[in-house]
Amino acid sequence: MTPPDLFSPYDLGPVTLSNRIVMAPLTRNRAGPGFVPGDLAVEYYRQRATAGLIIAEATQISQQGQGYQDTPGIYDAAQVEGWRRVTDAVHAEGGRIVLQLWHVGRISHVDLQPGGAAPVAPSAIRAETKTFVNNGFVDVSEPRALTLEELPDIVDDFRRAAANAIAAGFDGVEIHGANGYLLDQFAKDGANARTDAYGGSVENRARLMLEVAAGVAEEIGADRTGIRISPASPANGVSCSDPQPQFDYIVDQLNALGLVYLHVVEGATGGPRDNAVFDYGSLRRRFKNTYIANNGYDRALAETRLIQGEADLFAFGRPFISNPDLVERLKSGAALADINPATLYGGGAEGYTDYPRLDALRA
Ligand SMILES: Cc1cc2nc3c(=O)[nH]c(=O)nc-3n(C[C@H](O)[C@H](O)[C@H](O)COP(=O)(O)O)c2cc1C
Repeated sequence: MTPPDLFSPYDLGPVTLSNRIVMAPLTRNRAGPGFVPGDLAVEYYRQRATAGLIIAEATQISQQGQGYQDTPGIYDAAQVEGWRRVTDAVHAEGGRIVLQLWHVGRISHVDLQPGGAAPVAPSAIRAETKTFVNNGFVDVSEPRALTLEELPDIVDDFRRAAANAIAAGFDGVEIHGANGYLLDQFAKDGANARTDAYGGSVENRARLMLEVAAGVAEEIGADRTGIRISPASPANGVSCSDPQPQFDYIVDQLNALGLVYLHVVEGATGGPRDNAVFDYGSLRRRFKNTYIANNGYDRALAETRLIQGEADLFAFGRPFISNPDLVERLKSGAALADINPATLYGGGAEGYTDYPRLDALRA
């Protein structure tokens, strides 16, 4: 049998990817009025359509789910129309694209919340972190704990957003269960001090994430539903005293739901891969469908792990920002361009759609 190859096609549920390289979700804070992705987003994603799969940036499922300025939404008709233009552009280039569905929970600011209300969270515990609002980084606001009665509404918001994503032409969705946002806040005891059915035990802390996964899978099909988790990441001020049993349990349940993929940020998001002792192989063995690995990958590490059977697909984040033709560059061994940190969040075309392709540089 020939060994698997990073640059060969891969069947992901009902869609075929042209290669195993995935563009990780990347928030860029460039949505237009009404939190609608505009012309620049169409061009940005079109430029990156040679990725086997694009996971479009975290997109709020409701106004309450927003935590940063100028991030796109997927809860009203204008947003669906805006995203439709993006998916059409990517599909016209032969690419595949799913949307990351986001509720930030406590990582928000009153200036972004409906009626200037407090952000919502599992418990009224403020995160030690900042958000990007009013063109600057500021401390997140003090959150309030969600009531039991409100939790079904959160599940419904995810379901509606998933249906909207399909209506906008996406090939599927990725539930954002990572990086210290709402579902990760529930899963990790540093942010969840509840004493009801959604706090305390491993099963209780997993409950909301699993209800969302089941609801979205029922809404659009498990074969179009993926999920991202970051078991050992301290991103956005979360901590967990027992990540291994917590995420082993979550992954067993996600596997039972038949989700099409599990996307795992290994280590600290955007930081060291070995920040904590955690057995990612345990997640890989528990989950029978596609496993996407992320964090600090380069071609050599991806190929090693692919050959060893430790992951099926590899998500690249920062390299895709500054290398729209990342797949071609990895394949040919060409040098990679560096990102400009000053243009990551907010702004216009600069640092967004003006990173050149290699062939443009050589022409
Ligand atoms: C500018 C920027 C925006 C990001 N936005 C998101 C996001 O919207 N959703 C998410 O799950 N992760 C987000 N991340 C994390 C990346 O998806 C990825 O996990 C991280 O960059 C590590 O992968 P890399 O080493 O290939 O860059 C973001 C990272 C960066 C640098």
